[in-house]
Amino acid sequence: MQLPEEVKLIIKTSCADCHSNTTKYPWYSEIAPFSWYLAQHVNEGKEHLNFSEWSAYNKDQKSHILRDLKGELKEKKMPLESYLKLHEEAKMTAIQYQTLLNWVNSIPSE
Ligand code: HEC
Repeated sequence: MQLPEEVKLIIKTSCADCHSNTTKYPWYSEIAPFSWYLAQHVNEGKEHLNFSEWSAYNKDQKSHILRDLKGELKEKKMPLESYLKLHEEAKMTAIQYQTLLNWVNSIPSE
């Protein structure tokens, strides 16, 4: 997937831990119950959307994901609230939401 630099940065900072194959496990990932909590969210997040495997999705999956993405971004449901409590740096500004949304709107689902 061709990503504009600014979009790449936002996804890397705020989404990639749970939605790509490059999960960077933080220090608390070794401490239960955070470890269970995180592993569960990472696996669950990837089931729904994995940015690293975008090209492997078929047309139906892509349009489904794009629709979900728009919804999540409009309602600012992602990143998960519980994750933001531990990850200040993943908090997104209104401008970053808009940047991501503009990008999603520009992706052809064909
Ligand atoms: C802490 C892990 C985590 C982070 C960070 C995170 N997500 Fe998620 N995401 C999940 C989980 C878990 C689900 C599935 C459960 C749910 O929908 O709440 C999910 C579901 C989704 C879905 C599918 C919703 C649906 O209706 O199926 C989309 C789209 C999504 N995330 C986008 C994003 C975007 C964009 C970001 C960054 C701005 C992000 N997520 C950050 C964990 C995360």
